[in-house]
Amino acid sequence: PKVIFVALDGSRRTIDAAVGDSVMATAVRNGVPGIIGECGGNLSCATCHVYVDEDFAALVGPANDLEDDMLDLGVSDRRSTSRLSCQIKLTEALDGITVEVPEDQP
Ligand code: FES
Repeated sequence: PKVIFVALDGSRRTIDAAVGDSVMATAVRNGVPGIIGECGGNLSCATCHVYVDEDFAALVGPANDLEDDMLDLGVSDRRSTSRLSCQIKLTEALDGITVEVPEDQP
């Protein structure tokens, strides 16, 4: 599946990802600026925060309780489409998923 990262300046980068990988791991492996993934995907940092494009938000689904808490604690500009990208595992159904990188990470 392809993942499209939208940077702060609006520029887009499309990356071919592997099913089962997380959006965070895909970003880090490809050096996408603004997604850090400090805790390695363990839901303890929030440095992988992204805004999921509205068109994909329903497909991706909501955050679970742990992620929800971490978003509350760790993200200053939380929106309804905020997700921690280490918790978004890629499937073929998510092909073309578009995520926006936030202004800064905690
Ligand atoms: Fe730390 Fe996602 S990488 S919470």
